Amino acid sequence: MYSTPSNVLASNFMPDTNTIPDHALENLLEQARQVALNSYSPYSGFRVGAALRLTNGAIVTGTNVENVSYGLTICAERSALVTAVSQFGPDIRIDAVAVANLNNAASPPCGACRQMLSEFILPDAPVLFPAADGLRTLPFSAILPHAFELKLK
Ligand code: THU
Repeated sequence: MYSTPSNVLASNFMPDTNTIPDHALENLLEQARQVALNSYSPYSGFRVGAALRLTNGAIVTGTNVENVSYGLTICAERSALVTAVSQFGPDIRIDAVAVANLNNAASPPCGACRQMLSEFILPDAPVLFPAADGLRTLPFSAILPHAFELKLK
């Protein structure tokens, strides 16, 4: 029977720690927690916050905003992203992301948010998020390989 080598199980081939790598990222995570207090989530009760650090040094936050027409809901990550572009324009680059929720649950960024982030994020940017086994930090390229790109021939 195939058994996964323990180093693969532990690292999944990518840098991944259950510790916060530095104080700047710790602060980013705290800002994600803070903005989750503003969540408008009467339908799910799931309060999410996201904080983006931009290469210009700014930190921009966002929370999830739900709607009675459920599909119109915007996630915390996209909320932060559209705020960042609105504030700083189309040339922004994201060099770190932190996601938090107030429900003590896992909340990795959803697929739609990963695709939206891919337009503005540096491939090596660390993404911190609560996973089932605790806080995880992965480079963006590890959580969205093969992002959609529009290349017309
Ligand atoms: N949510 C986020 O804010 N970010 C994600 O990446 C996944 C889900 C929100 C959307 C909705 O308001 C609630 O969590 C439950 O799905």
